[in-house]
Amino acid sequence: MQIESTSGSYRDLDVQALAIAVFKGEKADDGFLKDLDSITGGVIKSVLDSEELKGKESETVYVHLIGNSDIKAHRLLLVGVGERSDYTAAEVSQMAGTAVRALRGKNVKSIAVVPRREETPEDIVSMAVEGSVMALFDPDKYRTTDKEDRKIEKLIVVMDGADETSLKRGVERGRIVGESVNFTRDLANEPGAYMTPTNMSERAREVATEFGLSIDVLDEARMEQEGMGSLLSVSRGSEEPAKLIILKYTPSSVTEGNEKLLAFVGKGITFDSGGISLKPGENMELMKYDMTGGATVMGAMRAIAQLKPSIPVLGVIPCAENLPSGKATKPGDVVRAMTGKTIEVINTDAEGRLILADAIAYAKKLGATRIIDMATLTGAVSIALGDVNTAVLGTDQELVDEIIGAGKEAGEKFWQLPLDKEYSKQIKSDIADIKNVGGRKAGTITAAAFLKEFADGVSWAHLDIAGTAWADEAKPYRSKGPTGIAVRTLLRIVARASQKCDGA
Ligand code: BES
Ligand code: ZN
Ligand code: ZN
Repeated sequence: MQIESTSGSYRDLDVQALAIAVFKGEKADDGFLKDLDSITGGVIKSVLDSEELKGKESETVYVHLIGNSDIKAHRLLLVGVGERSDYTAAEVSQMAGTAVRALRGKNVKSIAVVPRREETPEDIVSMAVEGSVMALFDPDKYRTTDKEDRKIEKLIVVMDGADETSLKRGVERGRIVGESVNFTRDLANEPGAYMTPTNMSERAREVATEFGLSIDVLDEARMEQEGMGSLLSVSRGSEEPAKLIILKYTPSSVTEGNEKLLAFVGKGITFDSGGISLKPGENMELMKYDMTGGATVMGAMRAIAQLKPSIPVLGVIPCAENLPSGKATKPGDVVRAMTGKTIEVINTDAEGRLILADAIAYAKKLGATRIIDMATLTGAVSIALGDVNTAVLGTDQELVDEIIGAGKEAGEKFWQLPLDKEYSKQIKSDIADIKNVGGRKAGTITAAAFLKEFADGVSWAHLDIAGTAWADEAKPYRSKGPTGIAVRTLLRIVARASQKCDGA
C-alpha cells in the first residue's frame, strides 16, 4: 500500500473514496460539514438530519456521490468518532482503521482519510497510518478459500495546514509502527508446529539482518553453562530445544556518561500444554499464543531498528515448548535458577515465570538497568481486568506511571495492580527458597511477586497481557485474533527516553 499525507484540500484528491470524521451531535449547518454538504449536493445534511448517523464511535454511513458533487472522489464514508473533547490521537487511529476496513470491504482501492484533528500533525498522521495498517491485518493466513484478498493500493491522510516535513515523518513512523505491530500479530497467530523456539530464533535472525540489530542466541548448552536451571526445566519434556534470543539496538552515537540500558523481556512459550500439570483440552489450541510476550519484544525491536532512537535497547526472549513426556519436569521437583535461588515447581503449568526468571537475570548480567517484561502469564488477569486493560505491576512507581502514560497516548490501556510484600508470603516453599505458584488468591499478583525475586537492584515493571493479547471478537477497526497489544506503548516509552536523552 502506498501511503502519503497532504496538507491540501480533500476536494481535488485523485482517490475513489473519502473517509471523514463526524463528531457526536454535529450538524451540517456549520463549518467543515457545511462546506462538505454544499459541495456534495446536500448529502451530509440528509444523513445527519435523518439521524442515520449520530456521530457515535465506530458508526459509519457510506454513500455514492452522483451528479451534483464537486469532489473528485465518488464515494464517501462518514465515520462517527464520539465527543470532540475526547477525540485524541488514539481515537484518530481507530477512526482511520474503521475507515480503511470498511472501505476495503466495499472493494475501494484508493482512499483519503480526513481525521479532522489538526494539533500535533506528525503524531496524528502517524496514528492514522498505524491504525490503517493495523486494520488491514487478517488472521486467515492458512485459508485457501474465502480469503480476504481485496487490497487497498493507496492511502492519503489529509491534514489541514501542516508542514510537509512533519507529515512525511508521521507517515514513515506510522508505517514502521503499524507493520511491526502486524509482525508481532503474525508471529502470535502461527501454530505451535510452525513457531517452535528454533523458528522463533530464525525469525529473530531475519529481523536482525534485515534491519541491523545485533543478535545472540543461546542454545541449551550455553544456558547450562550460565546455570539457567529454571528456564531449562520447562523445555525438558519437549523434543524442541529451548532458545534464549538476545537482540540489541545500539544508536550510532552513544551519549557519554549515560550508562542506562532499557531492556524488554518477553515470554516465548511457543506452546503451553501445561506439561505434566496438563491443561484441560477445551481451548488448548489457543496456547499457541503463549509466545506473544516474546513476539511483542521482537516486533518492538524491529521498529526500534528502523526508528533509530538515541538510546540503546536490549530485547531478551526466552523460548521453550511446555509439553509432558517421560523426561518432563514433575510437580515437586526443585530447580536452581541462574541467580542461585532454588524453586519448588508445584505446578508445571506455571512455566512462564520459570523462563522469565532466568531471562530477567540474564538481562541484568548484560547491563540492563530498567527492565519491562511482558507475558501471557496468568488466566487470573482476565478474571480481574477482562480484555480491556493490561495489568501492570512493578517495583519502580515512576516506570509504572510512564507505562500507563505512554499507553494512554498510544491508545492502549494499563491498570496497575498492587505488589505489597505481604503477597510474597504466598510463594514461600517448605523445601526450597520459593515455589512457582501462590495458591488461588491474587494469581496475577503472586506471579509478579515471583518475578520480583529476580529483578532486585533494577527498575522493573511487568505487563500481564494474557487477557489483552488475543481478541475473541473483531472490532470495526481490527480483526479478531492477535491484537499486538503493548508494541505501540513500548515504542512510545523508547521515543520519550530518546527525546530526554537528546535534550540532555
Ligand atoms: N499461559 C498460561 C496463562 C494463560 C491462560 C494465558 C489463559 C492466556 C490464556 C500460563 O502459563 C498458565 O498456565 N498459568 C496458570 C498459572 C497457575 C498454574 C498458577 C493459570 O493462569 O492458570
Ligand atoms: Zn502454563
Ligand atoms: Zn504459559
